[in-house]
Amino acid sequence: MSGETVRARVRRTLPAKSLIRNIARKLLRSLQGRRDHVGFSGSILPPAEMRRCPDLIDDACYLSSAEWQARRLRDQFGCRPETRVLDVGCGPGRLATGITRVLGRVEYTGNDVDRDAILWCKKHIEARHPTFKFHLLPVRNERYNPRGVDLTPGFQFDLPSGAFDLIHVYSVFTNMAERDMRIYLTDFRRLLADDGQVFFTAYAEDGVPPVTINPDGYISRPCSGPLHAVRYERAHLLSLLGELGYAVEQFDHRIEANGQSAICLTRSRLNGRSTCAGVGHADAVVPAAAFAARPETVRTSDGRLSRSSKRPHIRADTRSRPR
Ligand SMILES: C[S@@+](CC[C@H](N)C(=O)[O-])C[C@H]1O[C@@H](n2cnc3c(N)ncnc32)[C@H](O)[C@@H]1O
Repeated sequence: MSGETVRARVRRTLPAKSLIRNIARKLLRSLQGRRDHVGFSGSILPPAEMRRCPDLIDDACYLSSAEWQARRLRDQFGCRPETRVLDVGCGPGRLATGITRVLGRVEYTGNDVDRDAILWCKKHIEARHPTFKFHLLPVRNERYNPRGVDLTPGFQFDLPSGAFDLIHVYSVFTNMAERDMRIYLTDFRRLLADDGQVFFTAYAEDGVPPVTINPDGYISRPCSGPLHAVRYERAHLLSLLGELGYAVEQFDHRIEANGQSAICLTRSRLNGRSTCAGVGHADAVVPAAAFAARPETVRTSDGRLSRSSKRPHIRADTRSRPR
């Protein structure tokens, strides 16, 4: 053997350490890519590519937004283990995951048109938490389920009447056609229990056309694909809600992720006659002025208020009690 040491020969003939490290990293990443879940801080989370929203790719951010959603259920809506919650457009179970951490359990039903999301929730949430049920809706959404069945007026969810204390619809009407939103809201009235409430988010602004699909420069990213962002004129949205038989209990302008507004409804006892925006009945009107634009406070995807801690709560003076 020449003067070359064994160690030097090994160094010369084997690929550099950094190359090995790179290959190992790539291998790991591709294996992780195929994993169908991520274990994080004692919870099972959907893999990043299922989470849709870029702000939720980070595991800590995803989990803290899930917990924040669940805390709202507890603190704002008084949810307890026996509360019956319907989570429409549940995606891969963000709220459900938050509930398991914050409340332990509720009587939860989640549904969505996204088959992969529902299969994931069944496998990773329903199988471990018996009070959580997930259902696939074979309904068409141009963005999320273009091959589904068109919603038609008179559509009813395959769920019993009066069965839910809270219907939660987060970041879903932001990606649905107005016509479909009306059809859902119509059946929500049937699904709500006495004193039940609907909580939903929407893009709602003043001084814009009644409905705009993918408005230019409105959300932080350029819109891409159908129904990326559906924005309502606030007065139009309020009058639609009144027409469908709801009283608006609370309207928090732009406090949610990406500038969505948070809206809370109860059934109006006027049953189909308007209670909103100055077109309603004298004893149940929520004046349009009460919903004028307030100082903007934006909630980040992990649930923090980014500009000010002031929450612009707007409550109806004379709230119509349902039924
Ligand atoms: C932006 S994601 C929000 C998911 C979840 N609510 C969350 O906050 O993490 C919108 C969800 O709405 C669902 N969706 C769209 N149209 C729907 C419809 N007609 N019925 C039920 N879910 C729908 C999509 O499949 C998607 O999972």
